[in-house]
Amino acid sequence: MSSSRKKVIAGNWKMNLTLDNALSFIYEVNENLPSNDRVETIIFPQSPILSELVNNQGKDLKIGAQNMHYLESGAYTGEISPAILKDLKVSYVLIGHSERRQYYNETNESVNLKIKAAIKYDLIPVFCVGELLESREKGSTNIVLANQIYKGLKDISAEDALKIIVAYEPVWAIGTGKTATSTEANDTIKSIRNMISKLYGKDVSSKVRILYGGSVNANNVVELLSQSDIDGALVGGASLKSASFIKLVEAAL
Ligand code: 13P
Repeated sequence: MSSSRKKVIAGNWKMNLTLDNALSFIYEVNENLPSNDRVETIIFPQSPILSELVNNQGKDLKIGAQNMHYLESGAYTGEISPAILKDLKVSYVLIGHSERRQYYNETNESVNLKIKAAIKYDLIPVFCVGELLESREKGSTNIVLANQIYKGLKDISAEDALKIIVAYEPVWAIGTGKTATSTEANDTIKSIRNMISKLYGKDVSSKVRILYGGSVNANNVVELLSQSDIDGALVGGASLKSASFIKLVEAAL
């Protein structure tokens, strides 16, 4: 079943790497990555360098933003408009990353508005969901995820849902060195797929790509990606060095 869904390796750089570091990274990746159409490779740098990286992205690497506002313009100092991301030829945007939910008051409602705005501006939303350790320990992971999925996808058509990539990132596994076991991650992603199926039917849910994120590295990526429902990885720390990022892509190939 997973074979019809193209794999994704995405690097979320968060607030890391200067322009020089970033340009060296994409140069090295483009030099060393075997050209292929089986794995979609994306990096999410800091916003001020998006344009420079888009202009140097090469053939196989795509560039995404880490956040944006849902409105096109207005008095929102410091915010980023979807229209400017489109202008800059950015292809993807992370929406609802747990760090945005935790530190910048991102809610399921704002996530929903942002997903709709991304689609309107032809940006591919990478819609992030995930539970806190406390919820996992209480056994309420699926309740938290259902709330995030159903509210995040509210009033989004099946046709548009097919444009979305979902990223499941358990918050307790981010930057901690703790990964969900591959079976745990796969089972949770299957539950997310069932939620999507309840909204849109099996045909849609079997096509939507769902990534795993949380302490993914070159050592655990093969095992994670060999699972039936995991379609790729959203990687933080291990995506910051080109050699490590290339290893992740090679593993996905
Ligand atoms: P780490 O891979 O550093 O755990 O970060 C995961 C993440 O938050 C990617 O969005």
